[in-house]
Amino acid sequence: HEHKQPFPENFLWGSASAAYQIEGGWDQDGKGPSVWDVYTKQPGTTYMDTNGDIAVDHYNRMEEDVALMAEMGLKTYRFSIAWTRIYPEGRGEVNEAGLAFYERLIDLLLDNHIEPIITVYHWDLPQALMDEYGGWESRKIIDDFNDYCVTLFQRFGEKVKYWVTLNEQNVFIGLGYKVGLHPPGVKDEKRMHQANHIASLANAKAVESFRKYVPNGKVGPSFALSPVYPRTSHPEDVLAAENAEEMMNHWYMDVYVHGKYPEVIWAHLERKGTAPELQEGDLELLKQGAPDFMGINYYQSTTVERNPLDGVAEGKMNTTGKKGTSSDSGVPGLFKTCRNPDLTTTNWDWEIDPVGLRIGMRRIHNRYQLPILISENGLGEFDKLENGRIHDDYRIDYIASHLQQIQEALQDGVDVIGYCTWSFTDLLSWLNGYQKRYGFVYIDRDEKDVRNLRRIKKDSFYWYQDIIQSSGEKL
Ligand code: BG6
Repeated sequence: HEHKQPFPENFLWGSASAAYQIEGGWDQDGKGPSVWDVYTKQPGTTYMDTNGDIAVDHYNRMEEDVALMAEMGLKTYRFSIAWTRIYPEGRGEVNEAGLAFYERLIDLLLDNHIEPIITVYHWDLPQALMDEYGGWESRKIIDDFNDYCVTLFQRFGEKVKYWVTLNEQNVFIGLGYKVGLHPPGVKDEKRMHQANHIASLANAKAVESFRKYVPNGKVGPSFALSPVYPRTSHPEDVLAAENAEEMMNHWYMDVYVHGKYPEVIWAHLERKGTAPELQEGDLELLKQGAPDFMGINYYQSTTVERNPLDGVAEGKMNTTGKKGTSSDSGVPGLFKTCRNPDLTTTNWDWEIDPVGLRIGMRRIHNRYQLPILISENGLGEFDKLENGRIHDDYRIDYIASHLQQIQEALQDGVDVIGYCTWSFTDLLSWLNGYQKRYGFVYIDRDEKDVRNLRRIKKDSFYWYQDIIQSSGEKL
């Protein structure tokens, strides 16, 4: 038996969630509407028109949920704060009831020796800021986002060490402004790159403030990582994979870490007239945004082949790491995504690739020399409640195989500080309703019927409890 590298003693064994997907209480205690509260109520935007008005009612069942985390032995819990609970209109008067809710959550976690990781932005932009100036498309958001962050830093900075700024900037910008499936439902590449640039500036400014208000804390983004492979060893396919790595991954991570955009893609966008417009001082500000760790959300890799310019229609660019709908996607002249014949898929057509996580972590380690926090990884499936039990052995296999690759990466010399599964309880999958379940804890509800929202531990709950207790020895 080969000797396996043990996980570090202070490894953060964790799980994660996001406000809109679990809280419900969408207008309770002074909360204002977010873009998701509004978007999901337009017919046809989500699976069976489901929304997060009630979600899994975590807002009113927080104590019960934390008790389950404590029972499991979680070392860390990553959750997001709803901007509209703190500033119902996005700015202006602060809503004390919102701050008090998160303070109760943080205190309860700390009492149970669970390290809180706060995500300040997991997509639920205040609708008021969208109405007033178009949200991420206006530079006005830089100050409003900063003020919101500073309020959180001042209030929670003493208690909370780990902070995530933007959750999956590449996904909310790509799906919001290019693919058009998330709010605000725009399909315009030029606007997408501009909104993305402004989001990067807002991120950098928040990190700059973080240094001042939380000098002993650690901050980073959660980036949706999808490492890219060439379909064949044909040099044109290998080049296409390089192009896709630059556009899908380095385009964002280079900005976070070094405050600069990769040249290959910049030149490409300039030729197309879709490059973001830089103002004086932008590059200086971006350089203030360097993170302490790279948070990565990993679900699958991407495989590409060459996509010559002549005669190819432009497909959807896969900025999301989420395929399924985008097997013909790509960028003419750069790359075209395709199926990886060596991988199987989930029931949602996502390719299962644990080794891809190791590859991605090694690439990040080599390029950026930063510690890595896996801030999300997990399997969305149709779970079945049978005689009060959920036998989700497929989820156990999925998580185990990814943890084994993390262990390999540790052996490779990668500095991995923690691993958060997606998700702790079942929750609302933005566009897929409640049937796509990710949790260790089953929630008894479906799209049509909220039922009793009872919490039921799945087989994977007991399995992960055992893994944490043995520090990964039992993997
Ligand atoms: C990530 C998000 O993109 O993937 C989560 O940060 C999301 O909020 C998760 O739920 C799974 O995606 P989906 O589409 O299956 O809910």
